Amino acid sequence: MGIAVSPQIHPQVAEFIDKPRKMLINGQWVNAASGKTFPSYNPATGEVLAKVAEGDREDIDRAVRAAREAFDNGPWRRMTASERGRLIWKLSDLLEQHTEEFAYLESLDNGKALGIARAADVPLAVDLLRYMAGWATKIEGNTIPISVPYTPGAKYLAYTLREPVGVVGQIIPWNFPLLMAVWKLGPALATGCTVVLKPAEQTPLSALRLGELIMEAGFPDGVVNIVPGYGETAGAALAAHSDVDKVAFTGSTEVGKLIVHAAAGNLKKVSLELGGKSPNVVFKDADLDTAIPGSASAIFFNHGQCCCAGSRLYIEKSVFDKVVDGVADEAKKIKVGSGLEPDTQMGPLVSEEQLQRVCGYLEAGLSEGAKAVVGGHKAKDRGYFVEPTVLIDTRENMKVVKEEIFGPVVTAMPFTDPEEIIPRANDSTYGLAAAVWTRDISKAHRMAEQLRAGTVWINCYNIFDAALPFGGYKQSGWGREMGHDVLNLYTQTKAVCTKLG
Ligand code: NAI
Ligand code: MG
Repeated sequence: MGIAVSPQIHPQVAEFIDKPRKMLINGQWVNAASGKTFPSYNPATGEVLAKVAEGDREDIDRAVRAAREAFDNGPWRRMTASERGRLIWKLSDLLEQHTEEFAYLESLDNGKALGIARAADVPLAVDLLRYMAGWATKIEGNTIPISVPYTPGAKYLAYTLREPVGVVGQIIPWNFPLLMAVWKLGPALATGCTVVLKPAEQTPLSALRLGELIMEAGFPDGVVNIVPGYGETAGAALAAHSDVDKVAFTGSTEVGKLIVHAAAGNLKKVSLELGGKSPNVVFKDADLDTAIPGSASAIFFNHGQCCCAGSRLYIEKSVFDKVVDGVADEAKKIKVGSGLEPDTQMGPLVSEEQLQRVCGYLEAGLSEGAKAVVGGHKAKDRGYFVEPTVLIDTRENMKVVKEEIFGPVVTAMPFTDPEEIIPRANDSTYGLAAAVWTRDISKAHRMAEQLRAGTVWINCYNIFDAALPFGGYKQSGWGREMGHDVLNLYTQTKAVCTKLG
């Protein structure tokens, strides 16, 4: 299968993708029960990159049984919090040691630039594991003074325990394959849960390689199980499984709603990190030298395949032309190419399907009267490339303004009255992120309070840290990942009450 790969590929990666990859169940690398495999493609060429075991209901069943046994009876539950933390730290060290290899895998499977995977995806994943390793020993309950009016004179000792929620199903997308796996696994492991992880069918490879490092680090069998496969089969089976205590999902809002329905069978806990159509507001008093490149990277980072992409750019009228021209100039400078070429800044979209979807939005926008200041089309003959695009002359009811495009396409819209911008910015079914560029700190913080979004960036964009909670208002999701907030998603509280004699 090495055909799809250029000669300078990392040798360990070449070896890894040369053989069909198996799934991880109960500490063993096994084929799918059906014996089936599915292809993962190289989006820069459209060629098959690797073959992967295709998990389905039966494999999910086996994986859930292993996770259940590991949770109920395995050594995992008897480990001290400190031992758990050290295992997670060890995994972070192993991942860091293999940075180069993971950067190549991400670039090949997802299409992103190697340099970006090396500088952002892998280090963020390493850092998140370290942050979560620290939490393992700091998950505490409270002692609670209680009065109990109907037992006058009695004394009680009451306290809470924070316990792991149990067997967790985790379903992740393809835009940051390794990082999304780690965002999910880190807190589940820190809190003592066991996991069945289903990577996206477009990008299963880095999660499977991570599985090897998880076993090398010494996690007990069955604590982490990784079952690649398609959403409608493996993903749906996991979301509906009656022995799964919680499902955590990142992906489309449409599938998020299916997950909620599927989870209703056994009322498993659900957390969701879904789509966005995030407003990015540039005021005339902003430092335009930072606001312009910042607004360009808000949309073009990761080819616009970010749930928090700054896809609705609102610009105060007197600086509209200057900012639009500036963002368009930034777009023109972006070197689009295969992720492995050293000077590439933007790679292809992840799949043929995403290419069609994004091109469909471009055609809809242009036919409804939007104008592309730059871009507007597919790029190159081969691979799933799209030109970085800035659209103007849009109206609020156009699909390109309302719906998540998930590609390098921004709609730039002027505003005149700063008072009008809050309702316009909030006029979305989504509420994941928002940004404000201004030198007026009072205005910035007033805006931050009024924007209905889980993250508000002021004079910056796409700033992530393991300690900063991330998640959505409205239809962008349920719950917060990262920070200490995420511990709530993976623990439940038990109240213990003792009558003192
Ligand atoms: P998707 O929501 O179908 O896929 C995400 C994950 O869900 C994958 O692992 C997939 O296998 C799984 N899945 C799909 N159907 C499922 C089901 N019925 N039950 C359980 N799991 C299921 O997203 P897709 O089709 O790859 O992308 C479509 C759009 O979704 C994008 O254009 C973008 O707008 C949005 N999206 C948002 C992401 C985010 O980070 N919030 C990430 C990826 C996509
Ligand atoms: Mg792929």
